[in-house]
Amino acid sequence: MRRPRVTAICSLATVTVAASTTRPLDIQTVFKRHFGYTPTHVVQAPGRLEVLGNHTDYNQGLVMSVAIDRYVWMAASPRTDAKVELVTSAFTGHESFWISELKKKPTAPWADYVKGVLDRFRKHGVHFGGFNAAIHSNLPMGAGLGSSGALMVAAALLLRQLFPYKVTESGVTRPPKRDRRGLLPPLTPKEKMQIARLCAAAENHFVGLRAGMLDEISSLCGKEFHVMEIDFMHNTVELFPMIGEFAIVVLDTGVKHELVSSRYNELREHSESAARKLGVRSLRSVELNQLDANRARLSDREYECAFHIMAENLRVVHGERALLRDDIWQLGQFMFQSHDSSRDFLKNSCDELDLLVKLAREHPACLGARLTGGGFGGATINLIAWSQVDSFIKTIGEHYESRTGKPLKAMRCRVVDGAE
Ligand code: GLA
Repeated sequence: MRRPRVTAICSLATVTVAASTTRPLDIQTVFKRHFGYTPTHVVQAPGRLEVLGNHTDYNQGLVMSVAIDRYVWMAASPRTDAKVELVTSAFTGHESFWISELKKKPTAPWADYVKGVLDRFRKHGVHFGGFNAAIHSNLPMGAGLGSSGALMVAAALLLRQLFPYKVTESGVTRPPKRDRRGLLPPLTPKEKMQIARLCAAAENHFVGLRAGMLDEISSLCGKEFHVMEIDFMHNTVELFPMIGEFAIVVLDTGVKHELVSSRYNELREHSESAARKLGVRSLRSVELNQLDANRARLSDREYECAFHIMAENLRVVHGERALLRDDIWQLGQFMFQSHDSSRDFLKNSCDELDLLVKLAREHPACLGARLTGGGFGGATINLIAWSQVDSFIKTIGEHYESRTGKPLKAMRCRVVDGAE
């Protein structure tokens, strides 16, 4: 039976609080402090929250996501040689290297993401010289909010500002021209998709995490007050207004598991081998009767992953319908189901995430909650009745701390536009 819906009376932007106050000025300071002069260019790329669709992206599936008001900023100025010098406000020290010698460095893994982007864009035909750059962020790292994707998108956009390029699927075409004010034309949806593809390839091949394109597409294509529904089979993004008397609250367990990348890659391998054994290109095309008829051919883990992906894609489809009817209560139910499925089938949850979702579910102000992102630690996304956000955060925080001995980090998030 359908519950009374939450009436849509005000926009998400007005019902949530913009907790992010850091402005490009701060990145300017980080740059100036290290390099001693003002940068010529500053870019920003937002993080994302996955609302529904866990690990469906690299299975050519469907995901609902939003870009949030937590950013990675980068500032830079070109150099006259072919060297890059990078500094970040998150760690001390700096990293410098020649653009002809892009190698991973275990002592500065944060720089690998930028090097990976440079490597991939260079191989794709983009020409660039050396530059000095600074990185600054208010997006928690390793919390499942897409910080690596945002960093790579920022690096790609910074490169475009410094050395304008236009990428196509097969290479590069005539670079864009600046207008009289020195501004580049806005990116087309096709260019955004191509940039997302190159950044994801950088993460896959240079960094070594076989992630999908969710984080990059979300960071580039987000829209204020809207949820993106991304179709990874056709690489399309549809926008749906998400408006109501609720706020989006992120609860961060503070748990960062080691070996996350190997466990993430393992899930991808199970999904891909399941698809191979079922004779399909991806799990997007699998239906329940086909899955059950072929169960004996799959290992238990392959079956579980395939079952999760198939059901999760359906939840996104039904979630979209709920959203179109402003039925946030129903959308929230799909979020709870999604969490249960990640926990029981994908097995990428952890005790702390399960505890947070259980506590949220028991709280009357909570419409929906689930883990968001890769899993194995990180954060949950919660849809919370607007008038009760503070009491929700207080209650869950107290319970979480008394049960785990760990403090809970909570943030209200505003849905924002993607990177330009
Ligand atoms: C991480 C990856 C994404 C996606 C999610 C899980 O955030 O970077 O590509 O696979 O996990 O849905």
